[in-house]
Amino acid sequence: MVRKLDRSKELFAEACKHIAGGVSSDARRSAGVPLYVDHASGAHLWDVDGNRYVDYVLGQGPAILGHCPPIVVEAVNAQAARGLVYSAQHETEIDVARLLGKMVPSADLVRFNTVGSEAAHAALRIARGVTGRPKILKFEGHYHGWFDQVLFSVHPELDSVGPIAHPATVAGTAGQQLSSAGDLVVAPWNDRDRLAAILEEHRDEIAAIVMEPILCNSGVIMPAPGYLEAAQSLASEHGALLIFDEVITGFRVAPGGAQDYLGVVPDLAIFGKAMAGGMQASAVVGRAEVMEFVAAGKIAHAGTFNSHPVAMAASLATLTYLDTQRSAVYERLFSLGEKLMTGLRKAAADRGIALLVDGPGPMFQTYFTDAAAVTDYRDFAATDRAAMVRFQQLLLERGVNTVARGLWFLSTVHSEDDITFTIDAAADALAAM
Ligand SMILES: Cc1ncc(COP(=O)(O)O)c(C=O)c1O
Repeated sequence: MVRKLDRSKELFAEACKHIAGGVSSDARRSAGVPLYVDHASGAHLWDVDGNRYVDYVLGQGPAILGHCPPIVVEAVNAQAARGLVYSAQHETEIDVARLLGKMVPSADLVRFNTVGSEAAHAALRIARGVTGRPKILKFEGHYHGWFDQVLFSVHPELDSVGPIAHPATVAGTAGQQLSSAGDLVVAPWNDRDRLAAILEEHRDEIAAIVMEPILCNSGVIMPAPGYLEAAQSLASEHGALLIFDEVITGFRVAPGGAQDYLGVVPDLAIFGKAMAGGMQASAVVGRAEVMEFVAAGKIAHAGTFNSHPVAMAASLATLTYLDTQRSAVYERLFSLGEKLMTGLRKAAADRGIALLVDGPGPMFQTYFTDAAAVTDYRDFAATDRAAMVRFQQLLLERGVNTVARGLWFLSTVHSEDDITFTIDAAADALAAM
């Protein structure tokens, strides 16, 4: 299958002269020619060579209502005409905060930032400030942004991870401030007893346990039954806060995120991506007693672009839609996801290919593995990730855009036709593997 990519190749060559590596985020590096988008609409992208793609990347998750949803575009345009940036207070930020309070169980009080990494930074600082303790417990395979203090043990090589009972704290990049590792404790996820043992070893030191409540950065993995409840009671027993990183799960699995979907309410949570329907806004939210430390000015929180008026207008439009249309939205995201997952499973089974397709539906993962289930980072790392990248490239050639590591995001505007087209493309791609 040959796509014309002449203009994309020209642009990439030109980009490499001016932009380091030709891309502005390492997440956009590609095994082939990176995608040069001309425009996007609904569930589709068009590249500069005129190729159309059914898009399951959705900007790495934000475009939950699809690309250019009219209600968000109108809100953005209306606000842009009234002012792009104030770095001052405005009524829309109050409306968004109030709506977050209504939708998200843990959101008594909120503070806004611009991107997820910043909100993660804020949440960890708040946890340390509130508890007066130095250390954060994070889990192997979980991603909380690209800042130094948390870019450890996200995707470590399996030969560097150490024993499962005491995972090594593995740096994520050259140039990282390694002293941060001293304030981090890494644990295996989805294992209550090991979490309890590691907390015991660090008694009175842990300010917070931070996790993706549904792991979406190393496969898409649900917490084992009772695991979130166990983490919550262990955190409170140890005087540590529980932080949910809902940058992906937020507004994707339920109006109030994974905490709403799974019924476990953390002390603090962070949101980003889907919150602003394609614009850039993030939030740290929490219980009143915790956020009071920020309210009282005891814990610093700042940012020139915080509660950016245009991003807040986009957030208000997006969240209002998700809130008022909740039953239709989530019914659709789950049923489309289920239909696509079922079709992919069948396409693989028909060709005798061991493809595991798993996840709640609004986001899910494809893994090349014989394993019946993937339950933690080490399982994920043991899957054939090179085959996944090859599959992603073959899908792209056939007009389907997915996240290279095997993650798929659904939007409310993917159609039945898009799903049928995608299953056919996947069947063809699998046959070519
Ligand atoms: C779970 C999670 N937390 C935090 C982040 C960081 O967000 P951002 O890329 O907006 O800084 C991401 C980004 O993918 C994420 O998936």
